[in-house]
Amino acid sequence: MRGQHILGLEHMSPADIERVLTTAEEMKKMVGRQKNKKLSVLRGKAIVNVFFENSTRTRSSFELAGKYLGADVINIAASTSSVAKGESLRDTLLTVQAMGIDAIVMRHSAEGAAQYATRYVKAVVINAGDGAHEHPTQGLLDLLTIRQHHGEIAGKKVAIIGDILHSRVARSNVWGLLKMGAEVHLGGPKTLIPKEMVDMGVTIHHRVEDAIADADVVNVLRIQLERQKRGLFPTPREYARIFGINDERLKLAKKNVLVMHPGPMNRGLEISPDVAYGRFSAIEEQVNNGVAVRMAVLSLTLADEECA
Ligand code: NCD
Repeated sequence: MRGQHILGLEHMSPADIERVLTTAEEMKKMVGRQKNKKLSVLRGKAIVNVFFENSTRTRSSFELAGKYLGADVINIAASTSSVAKGESLRDTLLTVQAMGIDAIVMRHSAEGAAQYATRYVKAVVINAGDGAHEHPTQGLLDLLTIRQHHGEIAGKKVAIIGDILHSRVARSNVWGLLKMGAEVHLGGPKTLIPKEMVDMGVTIHHRVEDAIADADVVNVLRIQLERQKRGLFPTPREYARIFGINDERLKLAKKNVLVMHPGPMNRGLEISPDVAYGRFSAIEEQVNNGVAVRMAVLSLTLADEECA
């Protein structure tokens, strides 16, 4: 995978997905084993995180991953950069490229922004979320979390519930899960699930109870309040009552169900606090796996030698 851009899971082969997951498991072991977490796999490499949209976990997780691997990592946030002065995306990219960066990790509100970046830079481009399109490292860390709990992904029933329409996490999950042989069910209000998604090979339910019945995994997505247009969404109270994942509804899933949420959560809206912090929740583990998956992606695409 050396030199490969990571733009989405739609075009990533099952073999490459497998390689990332296995490498992430190795990374977890390596970092867990030693007191000094720092490895030298990417010593002498420079990575820049360019974030045009807000982020807590994804940005800090990429930063930590790069640092654990021994790379130099810098961060550019749109709100404090020359973007705020009107600099174009292309000029920002060319500026970064001119500094001799090896990888650009980019988040942007426009679909296709990461793909666009590959036209202007020689560095490896890693998509950290482009609009409602893809968020490949989130998809990969979700796959890793499922594999760790259930042993394998193939044959598992995964329900993805919530605001699918605006969610890049949903798209990356669907592509990744289908490639790894899972059965994918989407649940939520009609207005928040594009019906064309059946063409991807998923089943759509408008009663969340039907989507989560006998599920091995329930992945709850955030209602993206900042992206809602009028008429798509009932009141928050109505949403929680009809579509929210609470203890009662979760009883419909398998006994050892795994509950995931990419964060940030609207507690009490798409997920109740008892489920979010309950015994089936893998939400903190997802964050932990995020660092390992990003270490895997960075090392596989940037390291001069095979590292795991
Ligand atoms: C997601 C994102 O930004 O796409 N969060 C994340 O990366 N952990 C999901 C969201 O914002 O709801």
